[in-house]
Amino acid sequence: MYALRPERAVDTPEVEALLDLCFAPGRTALSSYRLREGVPPVPGLCLVLRDSGEVVVGAIRFWPVHVADEPVLLLGPVAVHPTAQGEGLGGLLIREGLWRAESQGWVRVMLVGDEPYYRRFGFRKLEHVQMPPPTNPERVLGLELEPGAWQGVEGAVTRDTSDNEASGTAWRSIGSRG
Ligand SMILES: CC(C)(COP(=O)(O)OP(=O)(O)OC[C@H]1O[C@@H](n2cnc3c(N)ncnc32)[C@H](O)[C@@H]1OP(=O)(O)O)[C@@H](O)C(=O)NCCC(=O)NCCS
Repeated sequence: MYALRPERAVDTPEVEALLDLCFAPGRTALSSYRLREGVPPVPGLCLVLRDSGEVVVGAIRFWPVHVADEPVLLLGPVAVHPTAQGEGLGGLLIREGLWRAESQGWVRVMLVGDEPYYRRFGFRKLEHVQMPPPTNPERVLGLELEPGAWQGVEGAVTRDTSDNEASGTAWRSIGSRG
């Protein structure tokens, strides 16, 4: 039995520990972290999966970014504890996160990751979208939640600093809800 819930502030230390376990040391040096600096994650889309013993076994987060002034959802990080990998939990987190994103009105998603894994969710290489260096362009992938949403959206990925204060407040209030 697993419980999937939105991430709250009290979950964050356990989620950070899971990310440290699942990713190589120095994960925060990755270019995607430059896009997250000083920007709160998207409320309601960051999810935590706990097992029956209430141990955190999986987590996913999403951040807002921009490409050519258009809003884009950046998926990641997503991680599943090594002892629980291969059971479909990563897929569960990604599908649930994307479903919630669509419900919130997001139309396009991107990530930096392995195409052989993310292809099953519909992600394909983005040909004309550049992450800050150093990023392997082969790993820059996109998904349309609305047909045609990536058409003509090209260029560098930039931080979304708009409405930062408002979304930060929303994130904190989610974090403080029991
Ligand atoms: C990637 C990750 C989240 C997947 O979680 P999971 O719960 O194991 O995934 P699922 O059970 O839904 O899917 C497992 C399948 O994906 C495949 N898979 C997992 N990672 C893969 C990868 N990097 N490339 C290709 N296939 C991959 C597995 O081989 C397995 O294949 P199968 O269905 O044919 O047996 C998890 O392996 C993880 O936390 N890895 C370390 C952190 C990481 O790399 N995060 C992603 C950043 S890009």
